[in-house]
This record gives sequence, C-alpha cells and structure tokens, in this order.
Amino acid sequence: MSGEADALEGIAGRALELVGEDTIVGLGTGRAATAFVRALGAAVAAGMRVRGVPTSDTTAALARELGIELLTLAEAGRIDATFDGADEVSPALDLIKGYGGALVREKIVAASSERLVILVGDEKIVSSIGQRGKLPVEVVPFGMALCERELAALGCTPTLRATDGETYVTDNQNFILDCAVEPIGDPVGLERRILAIPGVLGTGLFVGMADVVLVQEGDQVRAMERA
Ligand code: A5P
Repeated sequence: MSGEADALEGIAGRALELVGEDTIVGLGTGRAATAFVRALGAAVAAGMRVRGVPTSDTTAALARELGIELLTLAEAGRIDATFDGADEVSPALDLIKGYGGALVREKIVAASSERLVILVGDEKIVSSIGQRGKLPVEVVPFGMALCERELAALGCTPTLRATDGETYVTDNQNFILDCAVEPIGDPVGLERRILAIPGVLGTGLFVGMADVVLVQEGDQVRAMERA
C-alpha cells in the first residue's frame, strides 16, 4: 500500500472514533472520504449499526458494495455527522472543496448535518482561503456563457473543467467552471456575489460549516476545532 493510502487509513480510523452507534452518517467524496467509507464498511461488517447518506454516485456505489445501508436525504431528514475531505482548510476552518466535482451535493449534505468532520493531509492547510488558486463553481449548462462572463467580471477567470478532452459533467448533469482566485479576503461576500449570478448552482466555498478538521501530519493526527 502507498504511503498516502496508509496515511489516509490512519486518519480514517481516527474519524471512525467519532461515529456513534445507530447514527446517520454523511459520506463524502474523494480519496480521504473513500478511506473513511472503507473504514466504516469494515466496522459495519463487524457489527456496527449506521446508515449513510452519500454525496456522489461514486460514493454510493462504494458504500453499497461494502454493505453500508443508504438513505436518501429526504429519508434521513437530519444527519448526525458528515465525514468528507477538502482541498483547502484555513485557520478559521473555512474550506474550499470541489476539486473532485461533488461540491453541490457535499454542501447540501453538510448543511443537513449536525456536525461536519473534515479529513485532510497537512498539504491542504493554507494561511488564507483561495491560496491554491482555484475555486470550483457548478453551473447549469444553459447559463454557462453568462456565468463565464460574470465570473470574469468578478475577477475570477473561469476555465470549463474537462477530463481527457471531454467536458466534465457532475452527478447533477451540470458543468464546473474552475475559477482562478487569489487568497480571498472576504469569502462570505465573494460567495454572495457568485451565487447572485443566474445559472450558478453552488461554489466550493464552505464558510463556517466545518466543526472539526482532522489533519494527518506525518504519522500524527491533529484535530482542529471551531472556536
Ligand atoms: C469532492 O468534490 C471534493 O470536495 C473532495 O472532497 C475534495 O476534493 C478532497 O478530495 P481528496 O480527499 O481526494 O483530496
């Protein structure tokens, strides 16, 4: 197993300690979230009772394969805790998510949760949100030209996400515009301005949503908690 997979296994094991018996758990998307879902699957196989709400079709397929019972968001109502990865984490626990493309469902599931627990390696910790230079924004295909123009006018030069030369399509059948950003001084204001563009469905900015961030630092796990 690679060093990265080992590290993710360590942090996933630590996150598993935060899962209560007989609870409803939000299941994130990406490598760290996948490691958590695998750890949860092993716990379920060993007798733990939980039900999951997935944030993507990929995570749903994995959870089913591992024998984790799934609920829709409507069936679940409130979720006890969601476990997900992130692409940036600021000292205030603001996040950028969505490099993996599931940002809208991830935000809906996170907003339905009592607690949002984020799992990252220390390379994701930034001093200012936006530092890695990219903010994913999901847009309705019909509105793409308008969204591109308005995002550029906000100073967030957009690039349509593509994989192997094909436009990337989200689980919601939308497109992603990866916006070039500098460190963002006012994430709440930027989020408001972007969401005001007709055709924008959501951004990868998660401000004030994370409760706990588990950071893998070498072979140690550090917990950052919201003040
Ligand atoms: C998926 O849309 C993303 O928000 C991921 O949660 C995020 O990109 C972190 O993914 P990794 O754990 O794969 O880095």
